[in-house]
Amino acid sequence: MKKLRVGVLASHGGTNLQSIIDSCQSNSISAQVVVVISNNSDSGALKRAKKHGIDAVHLSNKHFPDDTDLDNAIVKILREHDVDVVCLAGYMKKRGANFLRAYKNRVLNIHPALLPKFGGKGFFGTRVHEAVLAAGEKESGVTVHLVDEQYDHGRILAQRKVPVLPDDTPETLAARVLKEEHKIYSEVIGKIATGEIRLPSSR
Ligand code: GRF
Repeated sequence: MKKLRVGVLASHGGTNLQSIIDSCQSNSISAQVVVVISNNSDSGALKRAKKHGIDAVHLSNKHFPDDTDLDNAIVKILREHDVDVVCLAGYMKKRGANFLRAYKNRVLNIHPALLPKFGGKGFFGTRVHEAVLAAGEKESGVTVHLVDEQYDHGRILAQRKVPVLPDDTPETLAARVLKEEHKIYSEVIGKIATGEIRLPSSR
């Protein structure tokens, strides 16, 4: 069976990227990360990619001040790598219509809460967990979803809950959620590879 070719876009540390690479390399999923693109030249994600011999590309508004030009440059790299599915893994820039059109229903994101709650513009990083705690939620979790034009909005592919404990801080909750992130993203990619999760038409 042909392996699913995955492109990853990431801005920071890349622990989700690492978990996907590990799942691919241990053959627990029928996929391979073929390129990693980051808007941050100093990102852990690019370092991790290089360490594993995966093409690592820094592309940002420094290279293409115009967002549409940058979208097109990213699409070009993804196409050159014959990418089937694009995974956003802590990618901190909203991409535009050209990018989403080129990979319609083929762009996934992972969000550290149970969407549609605690999602949308401004809900990223620690802020998500702070909001969950401030709302007095008894549980939080992880969502893997398709990306559309709106923040954290596209079709949900998988979710997993984690408990919120009485003495949680944003950091302890984030750590519990991240542990699940590292499992669920690979699981979803694996299920797309086998066809267990069928993505909507890309046309
Ligand atoms: C994760 O919490 C993810 O849900 C969010 O950004 C974070 C990325 O972490 N979108 P890492 O760079 O994969 O460690």
